Amino acid sequence: MHVARLRVFSSDLAKAFNFSTQNLQTNTYARVSNFSINFLERLLPKVEVVPAVNQIELHPSCTQEELVEYCRKRGIVITAYSPLGSNDSPLLKHEVVNKIAEAHKVSPANVLISLQANKPGVSVLSKSVTHSRIAANATIVDLTEEEVQQLQDIDKKEHFRVCHPNWTGWGSLGFPDCE
Ligand SMILES: NC(=O)c1ccc[n+]([C@@H]2O[C@H](COP(=O)([O-])OP(=O)(O)OC[C@H]3O[C@@H](n4cnc5c(N)ncnc54)[C@H](OP(=O)(O)O)[C@@H]3O)[C@@H](O)[C@H]2O)c1
Repeated sequence: MHVARLRVFSSDLAKAFNFSTQNLQTNTYARVSNFSINFLERLLPKVEVVPAVNQIELHPSCTQEELVEYCRKRGIVITAYSPLGSNDSPLLKHEVVNKIAEAHKVSPANVLISLQANKPGVSVLSKSVTHSRIAANATIVDLTEEEVQQLQDIDKKEHFRVCHPNWTGWGSLGFPDCE
């Protein structure tokens, strides 16, 4: 089932959110996407199956640290989508990203993917239609704590979302930066 960008794969979850179960694919585990803390707080008390994964937008301009920590504490793996900032991303040209890329002798894309891959409990979903980029993007470097902090700090002044929840027609989806 794909309701706009909010995905639910469990009759259990469907009941909690009052969706029709008619066309739902029921799996032995559940995964959700674009669930904020607010929505997880509504969901978790009502379900027996805690979602295994929450797929959310994650990159230096959308760090969602509180949500990542919330999911980590509950054993919900985060999948970081749009880790490069999606198409024509300003992050690939960002000074901080490029400086760190030079220091590690990798591309800015490698830095952005590595930022998420360095986080415990986070997996990364980048996309490319270019074979050489797909291969090159698989190189993960170990970032220092300072480098991670520099990248995470970008959000403080240059916040953006590629996928704004309002586009779904479901309102803010409970994300604090989208009220
Ligand atoms: N659950 C959700 O609501 C949701 C929402 C959005 C996206 N997603 C998923 O997340 C995945 C990734 O998201 P995304 O495509 O928005 O963003 P992304 O992976 O952050 O960025 C993709 C863009 O970066 C370019 N790129 C890839 N590798 C590069 C490199 N090494 N150097 C320069 N540019 C590079 C790609 O161009 P080329 O393809 O031309 O190489 C494409 O324009 C997709 O599978 C998507 O389906 C999920």
